Amino acid sequence: MTADPFAPHTAATTSGTAASAFGLTKVHGTGDARVTALDDVSITFRQGEFTAVMGPSGCGKSTLLHCAAGLDTPTSGSVRIGTTELGTLDDRELTRLRRDRIGFVFQAFNLLPTLTALENITLPSAIAGRRPDREWLDRVVSMVGLSGRLGHRPAQLSGGQQQRVAVARALASRPAIVFADEPTGNLDSRSGAEVLGFLRDSVRDLGQTVVMVTHDPAAAGYADRVVFLCDGRLVDEMTRPTPDRVLDRMKAFDTRSRTS
Ligand SMILES: Nc1ncnc2c1ncn2[C@@H]1O[C@H](COP(=O)(O)OP(=O)(O)OP(=O)(O)O)[C@@H](O)[C@H]1O
Ligand SMILES: [Mg+2]
Repeated sequence: MTADPFAPHTAATTSGTAASAFGLTKVHGTGDARVTALDDVSITFRQGEFTAVMGPSGCGKSTLLHCAAGLDTPTSGSVRIGTTELGTLDDRELTRLRRDRIGFVFQAFNLLPTLTALENITLPSAIAGRRPDREWLDRVVSMVGLSGRLGHRPAQLSGGQQQRVAVARALASRPAIVFADEPTGNLDSRSGAEVLGFLRDSVRDLGQTVVMVTHDPAAAGYADRVVFLCDGRLVDEMTRPTPDRVLDRMKAFDTRSRTS
């Protein structure tokens, strides 16, 4: 059975839920510069599921990820990671939750240039004053194929390898959920396919939960479901997507928006 992504929080939808948003609205700016980036979005991300978020430029995809990851504060509505309501946390608690329970992969790799690959991967736990879980770290590092490159600095790695380091860093704390905002946007198609494969493997083999923004139907084809945003609203959802079906759906949106 497919749970309704538009369903509000209930006891039933909370079990097996990695993260959820209810009535999420985000307004940027004031007066003439006022933009409603998210308009009453409710969505559930189930544990162990890979979700792709698609929609035209400016429709609110990054805003949704940033609000869901506690990197941005919604104007109204609520976000839960597991059963923790982000709005109830103070700044310190929110920082800790982001560090321990959320992984984020950006389009730009955002690695620290003076640190080695391994130091970049373990930096969040080092900041937290914790030893990384060695066994988990070994699994993540070998999954993304970095075992021979852990001593390299980012400048000594290709773009695809740098993004693999970023994926490993996001997974290192064994987070409740990984958010990735166009993680293949700066990669050639082969490196992009590798990174998508690792994200999918982290879901299939490691039981992680991944939410990824993409403009690419081929990338969306790696996901278990695709949700479509338009003008800050969730407008559609597809399960077991294939690139062709995603492309057809995108064309249908284009036709509809041209004729409306
Ligand atoms: N800090 C901000 N201040 C003002 N407006 C903003 C801000 N951030 C985003 N917006 C606006 O909110 C809307 C949604 O932006 P968002 O970045 O979420 O879109 P997106 O779907 O990620 O687009 P893209 O595919 O181009 O990355 C846009 O109209 C954008 O201009
Ligand atoms: Mg964006």
